Amino acid sequence: MTVKPPAYDKKEYWQERFEQEQSFEWLVGPQKLLPILETSGVSTKTRVLQVGCGNSELAFSLFDNGYTDILSIDYCSNVIERMKEETDNRYGQGSDIVKPRWKAMSALDLSNLYAPSPSSGRTPNNAAMSANFDCVLDKGAMDAIACSDDNDNSLVNKMEEQVSKLLDKDGIWIIVSYSDSRWNELNDEAKSRWSKKVISLEVTPTNLVQTPNGPIHQPAIYHHCYILHKL
Ligand SMILES: C[S@@+](CC[C@H](N)C(=O)[O-])C[C@H]1O[C@@H](n2cnc3c(N)ncnc32)[C@H](O)[C@@H]1O
Repeated sequence: MTVKPPAYDKKEYWQERFEQEQSFEWLVGPQKLLPILETSGVSTKTRVLQVGCGNSELAFSLFDNGYTDILSIDYCSNVIERMKEETDNRYGQGSDIVKPRWKAMSALDLSNLYAPSPSSGRTPNNAAMSANFDCVLDKGAMDAIACSDDNDNSLVNKMEEQVSKLLDKDGIWIIVSYSDSRWNELNDEAKSRWSKKVISLEVTPTNLVQTPNGPIHQPAIYHHCYILHKL
């Protein structure tokens, strides 16, 4: 019998999940990610866009560690509403208070976030404008998008195109993924826009099965952190 994986590529799956689930951290927790951000050139002054935030603690952790400019997006409006409520509970309700910001929108259409450049007459759909963000953080969103039946990786490449238009030269895109082939799914044109470094993160196994002779042998499992700098 083949076991069907959950429909990670479907908005309905996530919407339904967020009706029940209060908090879940995919792949790695903020404690492990924050030092990687620091060594990758991300600082508390960096203007961060988190894509596919879900109900992760990451934005709160960043904020509590001194990052003040964080916008998190997800295409599920129910989780965004919940995260806004949680933010008000933690940091206060006033609209003048500096706190993490949230917006329901798709990572596959970031055009509303592109900075328009009135002097040049460019429209927000145009590339090469002065950016509103210095760093895009993706922990598990591209993984979800890559679960679609899209055999030619068109959605992964679409996401790259959107992120690439959002960032200026030297902008940073950090993708945390369970997959060691995420980069290879990008087409040559997409790859040519970035310099790449990959960090393998060993996953600490939980619930190791004990045998009379000790824990059973278990191969190491890794997640992958792609650190991309815009060329
Ligand atoms: C694996 S979860 C990761 C959640 C969170 N980043 C974390 O690390 O715990 C994937 C998230 O991506 C969101 N997502 C999937 N496709 C998306 C899209 N096209 N635009 C925005 N969010 C998307 C889902 O709603 C879900 O919250």
